[in-house]
Amino acid sequence: MKFLLTVLSTFIMVISMTNQAFATLSVDVSSLTSVAAFSCAKNLGYSTAAIRGYFEAYGNNPGGAIDSNFLKSYENAKQAGYTDIDVYMFPCTGRSTCKTPQQQVNELVNLINTNKVIVRTAWLDVEVDKTSGNWNLGPAKNQEILKEFFAAWKSTGWKFGIYSSQSQWEAITGDKNWVLDSSLPLWYAIYDKNSSLNNYRAFGGWTQGTCKQYDGDAKFCGASFDKNICK
Ligand SMILES: *[C@@H]1O[C@H](CO)[C@@H](O)[C@H](O)[C@H]1NC(C)=O
Repeated sequence: MKFLLTVLSTFIMVISMTNQAFATLSVDVSSLTSVAAFSCAKNLGYSTAAIRGYFEAYGNNPGGAIDSNFLKSYENAKQAGYTDIDVYMFPCTGRSTCKTPQQQVNELVNLINTNKVIVRTAWLDVEVDKTSGNWNLGPAKNQEILKEFFAAWKSTGWKFGIYSSQSQWEAITGDKNWVLDSSLPLWYAIYDKNSSLNNYRAFGGWTQGTCKQYDGDAKFCGASFDKNICK
């Protein structure tokens, strides 16, 4: 019995080590990030990066706009040795001045194509930002907007996914179980500071996520990063 237990626990240890080995740590950034900061993060084991490429833009750019730091941060990440780089889009939604979803997606796609930027996955950030007053037209309209962004991304032929969390999805769509397309990759946020993908809270029909953002606005390497774990 003792022997069996030892064999069993060794087996379980190997399995969990294997899981660890397949998971990768990742950082994401929304502000201009230097080569030094990216190099430092890479040395700490964050092997992939996601960079904001588009934002909801209010004030001077009320319709949504390319993030003017994106190209520079991308070049810096590349120079620091990053090869697996994602882009994320914080869309303009809910204001009458917002460009159409297709226009917003096209702007980002054109920027990336024109500059020969290689991104792995584009993520659509589905999250309330009170300062910009986004997603404020009620669940029915929000679902419609989400379907429009979905169709716009689909039309690009790019690999794209959804970033959100159970509480944000519920607040925006009115129902945590409302399904957009649960076959899309999911990047979910739970700020439990725990780099384990096990602590998932289901929404949108997804049974598991590809990445989990487990810490936001962490300050290290002289910069501000969000921390993620990905399968
Ligand atoms: C992280 O989450 C895992 C899975 O739920 C759990 O086993 C582990 O104890 C947690 N670690 C910490 C430091 O809380």
